Amino acid sequence: MRKLIIFLGLCVALNTPSRADEGMWLLNLLGQLNMGDMKDMGLQLEAGAIYSASHPSLKDAVGALDHGSCTAEIISPNGLILTNHHCGYGEIQSHSSLEHDYLTNGFWARSMEEELPNPGKTISFVVRMEDVTSRLNEQLDPGMSPDARDARITELSRQLIAEATRGTHYEGLVYPMYEGNSYFLVLLKTFRDVRLVGAPPSSIGKFGDETDNWVWPRHTGDFSLFRIYTGPDGQPADYSPDNIPYHPPYFLRVTREGVEKGDFTMVLGYPGVTDRYLTMAEIRERMQVNNRVRIEVGDRALAIMKQEMNADDRVRIQYSEKYAAYSNYLKFSKGENRSIEKLGILEKQKKSEEAFDAWVNSEPERQSRYGHVIEDIRNTIDKRASLAWPMACIEEIFFLYKPVEFIDFSSASFTLYLALNGDTEYAAGIDSIIASLREKAAIYFDDYQPPTDKRISAALLEYFAEHVNPVFQPSFMDDIRGRSADQVTEYLDRIFSRSIFTDRERFFRFLDHPKLSRYEHDAVFEMTRSLFQKYFEIDDLYRASSAGLEENRRQYMEALMKMMKDKTFYPDANSTLRLSYGRVSDYDPRDAVHYEFRTTLAGVMEKDEPGNPEFTVPEKLKKIYREKDYGEYAPGDTMAVCFITDNDITGGNSGSPVLNARGDLVGLAFDGNWEAMSSNIAFVPRLQKCICVDIRYVLFIIDRFAGSGWLL
Ligand code: ARG
Repeated sequence: MRKLIIFLGLCVALNTPSRADEGMWLLNLLGQLNMGDMKDMGLQLEAGAIYSASHPSLKDAVGALDHGSCTAEIISPNGLILTNHHCGYGEIQSHSSLEHDYLTNGFWARSMEEELPNPGKTISFVVRMEDVTSRLNEQLDPGMSPDARDARITELSRQLIAEATRGTHYEGLVYPMYEGNSYFLVLLKTFRDVRLVGAPPSSIGKFGDETDNWVWPRHTGDFSLFRIYTGPDGQPADYSPDNIPYHPPYFLRVTREGVEKGDFTMVLGYPGVTDRYLTMAEIRERMQVNNRVRIEVGDRALAIMKQEMNADDRVRIQYSEKYAAYSNYLKFSKGENRSIEKLGILEKQKKSEEAFDAWVNSEPERQSRYGHVIEDIRNTIDKRASLAWPMACIEEIFFLYKPVEFIDFSSASFTLYLALNGDTEYAAGIDSIIASLREKAAIYFDDYQPPTDKRISAALLEYFAEHVNPVFQPSFMDDIRGRSADQVTEYLDRIFSRSIFTDRERFFRFLDHPKLSRYEHDAVFEMTRSLFQKYFEIDDLYRASSAGLEENRRQYMEALMKMMKDKTFYPDANSTLRLSYGRVSDYDPRDAVHYEFRTTLAGVMEKDEPGNPEFTVPEKLKKIYREKDYGEYAPGDTMAVCFITDNDITGGNSGSPVLNARGDLVGLAFDGNWEAMSSNIAFVPRLQKCICVDIRYVLFIIDRFAGSGWLL
């Protein structure tokens, strides 16, 4: 699943006992925590073959794209990597034009020379990870205030990182685990020249589109191919035509054996965020504030975007990535609220909290240490309720998926404003600020349509005016509140026609001779400034009313781990490398319905619906199907397409390798299922599935459909 940009930040909940399928495990703890269980289930590898800090191991082949938006894996000695189509979608889109519509037609490099560079795209691999909790604890005083403790941890982490990365070009990060009860140091090696090699047409890579998204049974060939390049010395380097393909210490073995029901599978990847330890009050806040705002704002924005895309092919290409990412997130949030209700997640949590209370109250010492925790969290959520709503509105409308584009774009040039204003921190770097703004603006305006932005912005500003207490609205809203839709549009027309941030030429002309006065007379800049001012004002209040929450959460987690001594806990996902293990499995989604674990090409043909862009099967694929020309990729003439497992995954795992008991690649994880959309909050055994594309379908499309066998 692609990582959704979600800023909840806060998490804690009751956990059910560990099961084979539930859990996103830390790789350096597998030997200690999971190997027995995994071997019982059929794993044929030793822990050191999966993770080793000194020998090549599976972990060396599994990377995080762009620091964790998706996962990709190396499948050749020449740095070829596989990920999902929806993970490469931004690149496929940015190389597309009306003349070269790679979104519609696919893209296949015929040789390495034709592979397309993507400045800014990165992939990172774990060099090693280490539990540094005791090293930090030695230096922490149990009597410290939470703020002092945080500051000390930040300082100590900086020292640990400096020590671990000295003399290397590695990146170091210290991650809190188990709500800050543990800390792990992770060293990463990041490559910066990642080129697009191949992608099927959307009618394969995105087959089923929004209708099938988050749904099983699925028939999507959700994959794309990239290649990592290094400097001539084999080390990470920025793009250069002189760079060479990466020769990795390890790459995955691809198998055409396929999978059967019950087979052991493991998924390695970089899951982004889960909140498996939330309390009832927090789950409610998420449903009634965050998800609700997201749904109301997203529905309005996307309906307009879709109309604009349908009306003009150029807009379709420009906005397809924005649309796909945003609507993926919107459908996710709708599904999350629905599943929380349907699966009774709040009721289950209530029972867990009652059990927690009983455990706490059975001993005076526990009582005094943990007795207040759940109540404190509930009080915090109550206390910040009037602030959480405007915060969520601002974040959804202006920040997360940036549906009001012009404001987001103008905020990117704030540093230039500061530099022109003589701010000592920025003034010296003014040339490089301008250079990077030029780069950013070129990319931004390529995919920008002022009329589309204006329509969406008008609708969302209207929503904001109506749904947020005026004291939490930035000053520019005084010009908008109470106006009719037409008047808001007129207001935006006026602003758009003059601002430097809504027109490519005006903006570049401004960059040629940037003047402070231009900023001061730009209405868009003024809007952005007042927005940020208000946002920071609310944020200060919000933080003040949330004080102590993190510490309460840490204590809650600590208590849970004491209460369930025999359970093996895993920390919430946080974009660090994890392994989950389970089996290929089918399921019963509802009364009288059974879902098989596998879909086939016959199902693609069943869904074919010429004229419906979501379900149009390419002619060439139909021909191959009629002739059953599958080569070595389909034993017995049945071409497998997707399968499901009970592996525990979330956003960020998209593109993750699905490996069999020998560690061979059998598929790519790419989605979750509609019946269990609350999985970021609670794993529901028997219902929660990991949707994967069968590696044989991937190979078949590359070789037989695209004729790009040279890659294999
Ligand atoms: N649900 C998938 C995920 O979150 C993304 C699928 C993208 N496809 C789409 N039609 N938007 O990873």
